[in-house]
Amino acid sequence: MDEPAPALHTALTALLDISHPIVLAPMGGVAGGALAAAVSAAGGLGQIGIGYGDRALLDRESALAGDVRVGYGFINWCLSERPELLDAALERRPAAVTLAFGDPEPFAGRVRAAGVPLICQVSRVADARRALDAGADVLVAQGSEGGGHAERGRGTFTLVPELVDLVADTGGHAPVLAAGGIVDGRGLAAALVLGADGALVGTRFWACREALAPAGAHRRALGAGGDDTVATRVLDSVRGYSWPDGATSRVLRSPFVERWHGHEEELAGRLPELAQRYRQAVADEDYDVVQIAVGEGIGVIDEVRAASEVVESLVHGAAAALAEGRARNHR
Ligand SMILES: Cc1cc2nc3c(=O)[nH]c(=O)nc-3n(C[C@H](O)[C@H](O)[C@H](O)COP(=O)(O)O)c2cc1C
Repeated sequence: MDEPAPALHTALTALLDISHPIVLAPMGGVAGGALAAAVSAAGGLGQIGIGYGDRALLDRESALAGDVRVGYGFINWCLSERPELLDAALERRPAAVTLAFGDPEPFAGRVRAAGVPLICQVSRVADARRALDAGADVLVAQGSEGGGHAERGRGTFTLVPELVDLVADTGGHAPVLAAGGIVDGRGLAAALVLGADGALVGTRFWACREALAPAGAHRRALGAGGDDTVATRVLDSVRGYSWPDGATSRVLRSPFVERWHGHEEELAGRLPELAQRYRQAVADEDYDVVQIAVGEGIGVIDEVRAASEVVESLVHGAAAALAEGRARNHR
């Protein structure tokens, strides 16, 4: 791809002062400083996913991002346990802060007072209203197709236009990003046609060289199709994470998940033993047991690439798909 990337300017690119309407999902344990910096350097917005992490992780990954402008993403219920991490992120004058999973209100004021754009990721209309009330500058419409955690239920294809209309009906201007299942130019084009101002992309960037995902996980997932993922609570249980009711994590099916998904009561009765089995599997890098969180889009990803190539191919592919759509409409 030698020709320069075409311009897909939207309200998002203007708000965040970026070249392409592509935002790296703040994937905890995956989107570190190297990946975030690579996405920002390629013209999107990179974000460091703090996830379940602590101050040491924030400092280490921020150092890896160097001078490149990146954002930070937090899980609200984890941030409630370590609220000082938000101050540590804001001190670095980030390009944006993303808040997801739970009420953003306790943190939104500090982000806005710091003059940092506030991105809120939501998977339901009611949560979008709450985020707008809290002052969100950008909404992420997170559909159920996506990898990792979500409040399951809504697909990207209907949630995006509903949130676009919600923003318009409330007289606001917050750009809406589509998230969940966007892994190539076709998906980005579809998001833009639905009225989104860009996409927040997880799984496609998970399969990048700069991601913190282990090579063994990449090898295992790249042969998989979209049917091979399932949204489950099994791996949160054995890892000891207390996600709120309603949240599940989309992961690759594995012998362990197949055994326990749907048998959560039995699992609860054997938790100490199974938690120990999981810890051992992590040490052994045994992907028959260890979680690989990816979305349904894994089915159309067939290689690990550099993040800059992914950004370019998303933009080129979307521009081509949009031009082709226009040409077809005029036939
Ligand atoms: C491995 C992985 C880890 C994730 N961790 C987080 C997280 O820590 N915080 C968050 O807000 N979203 C997280 N997500 C969800 C993403 O923000 C996003 O909604 C999702 O990846 C979009 O769908 P896609 O995977 O099809 O691109 C994660 C997703 C993946 C795949």
